[in-house]
Amino acid sequence: MLDKIKKIKKQALAEILQTDSIAHLEELRVAYLGKKSEFNLILKGLKDLSAENKKTVGPKANQAKKEIQITLENKLSDLEDLQNVEKEWIDVTLPGKTNKIGHLHPLTIVQQDIEDIFTAMGFEIADGPEVESEFYNFDAVNVPEDHPGRDMQDTFWISKEEGREKGSGTVMRTQTSSVQVRYMEKHKPPFRIIVPGRVFRQEATDATHEHTFHQFEALVVGKKVSVANFLHIAEIFFSRFFNQKINVRVRPSFFPFVEPGFEFDISCTNCEGKGCSACKNTGWLEVGGAGMVHQNVFKAAGYPKGEYQGFAWGFGLERLAMMKYKINDIRLFHSGDIRLTRQF
Ligand code: PHE
Repeated sequence: MLDKIKKIKKQALAEILQTDSIAHLEELRVAYLGKKSEFNLILKGLKDLSAENKKTVGPKANQAKKEIQITLENKLSDLEDLQNVEKEWIDVTLPGKTNKIGHLHPLTIVQQDIEDIFTAMGFEIADGPEVESEFYNFDAVNVPEDHPGRDMQDTFWISKEEGREKGSGTVMRTQTSSVQVRYMEKHKPPFRIIVPGRVFRQEATDATHEHTFHQFEALVVGKKVSVANFLHIAEIFFSRFFNQKINVRVRPSFFPFVEPGFEFDISCTNCEGKGCSACKNTGWLEVGGAGMVHQNVFKAAGYPKGEYQGFAWGFGLERLAMMKYKINDIRLFHSGDIRLTRQF
């Protein structure tokens, strides 16, 4: 009898330790300790044994049962642990969860890029008020009282009195050129500045027009500044900004604060000048206005006549951002739609 118990125990323990499935473990439990198991029959038969045998076989049988039970429990907890480890296994090659953090607005990115490129070339960044006097926005930059330019830019007037003194009105600035004379009054040439900033025009909005947008002015003044300087700096700037070789060309145009004045184009960033739908097959994209600073502007700033030369340019930041990021509607910039900014 004792041998039999020993044999069953040995076999049970061996099989329990070998299994690697919880289901099979349960089968073993039933087979070795279940009601119909051989072991149970032995235990049941104990009562029929002689008192002598009971004494020896009883404790052995119970101890064997306990051992089998403990082994079963340990094995079960091992197998469960293994199962959990498999469940909790982490694939370290999967892309991590990204924390959502804020995004810079594309216009901010463009402005920062511009500022970086120009400060690297020795330019300073200047600033002026958005609510501006009529004087700095128009009179100081040589826009005559009755000049259509004042209507052309569809000004938002804050105040404008009939029979007022010239230049005494207040406007939402229509152009960053308003900072030209403000800056010149306080600084003596030579200097190079850029003026990024918000401007306002009362106009109907569509995919390419906004009432509130951003301009960016460049102004370089010294004793010997020429159109060649403008062309060179413009080519360096646009080539760095678009990360590709860009050519600049000028076409005669009129702005009251420059003489000569021109509009300037850059070689198409899409087809590199070969001709495509973005440039309407011309190979060129219109960018902004520029010219040599009009002596009347220097006069308004209090500079001696004929002493200095300079160039100025100005254009819309939105247009530049639209070219760079292929955004097709200017209204998206102020839409507040975070699906736009999330892409940056
Ligand atoms: N201020 C002009 C505009 O808003 C652009 C410009 C700036 C043109 C400087 C020439 C020189 O249209």
